[in-house]
Amino acid sequence: MRAVFITATDTGVGKTFISYNLVYALKERGIRVGYLKPVETGVEDLPEDGSLLASLTGQPLEEVVPVTYKLPVAPYAGLLEEGRDFSLEKLKEHYLRLLERYEFLVVEGAGGIAVPVKKGYNYADLAREWNLKTLLVARAGLGTINHTFLSVYYMRSRNIEPIAIIMNGFEGKDVSERTNPQIVEELTNLKVVKVPRVKGLLLPAEYRNLLAELVGF
Ligand SMILES: Nc1ncnc2c1ncn2[C@@H]1O[C@H](COP(=O)(O)OP(=O)(O)OP(=O)(O)O)[C@@H](O)[C@H]1O
Ligand SMILES: [Mg+2]
Repeated sequence: MRAVFITATDTGVGKTFISYNLVYALKERGIRVGYLKPVETGVEDLPEDGSLLASLTGQPLEEVVPVTYKLPVAPYAGLLEEGRDFSLEKLKEHYLRLLERYEFLVVEGAGGIAVPVKKGYNYADLAREWNLKTLLVARAGLGTINHTFLSVYYMRSRNIEPIAIIMNGFEGKDVSERTNPQIVEELTNLKVVKVPRVKGLLLPAEYRNLLAELVGF
């Protein structure tokens, strides 16, 4: 595996948080790791996800986030509203260049797997075309069974088999959180990795190790 696609069941679920900790873990292992957020939206001034990860990898911002839109919406919605078109071919060329430049690449989507990047092209198309293995980040609490099941069902319908599901923000404080990992594992036959809610950005080393292991390190 040379690259991984980080998708989620929804926006705000923890793709950037998991990307940050995965990049951190790989750097700790001495791996030259790059990050790419092909399109970031909600960018008034600096791209939030891109800036955070660029500060960790040392990459220039233009390399990390090649396309931005101001409105905090799906990329295709940003394109419809703001009218600045971009080329999917150029975006893929950019990805392939980064793939050559780094030992490992972490690619973050926007929102979930069915979110449109452009007309007739969503993140499942991107993951397929870019030949990316995929990690699915899910919420830990109430509502996650349905979101996660549907995401996996759709991914499989597009011939994308997730490496694993990361249940993020786990506190284990209610019945739903305590039972969700088992139920989701049974419903999807996928490995569910529980990741706790922490203060700040960095997970404890044992969880960083788990993330690195999921991508083969
Ligand atoms: N396990 C966690 N512990 C503590 N804070 C977390 C955890 N996971 C996510 N967060 C915080 O929750 C917020 C949303 O997470 P994040 O930005 O990673 O979501 P996202 O899926 O990348 O969203 P987007 O679709 O906008 O890219 C962030 O402030 C992040 O730092
Ligand atoms: Mg993000």
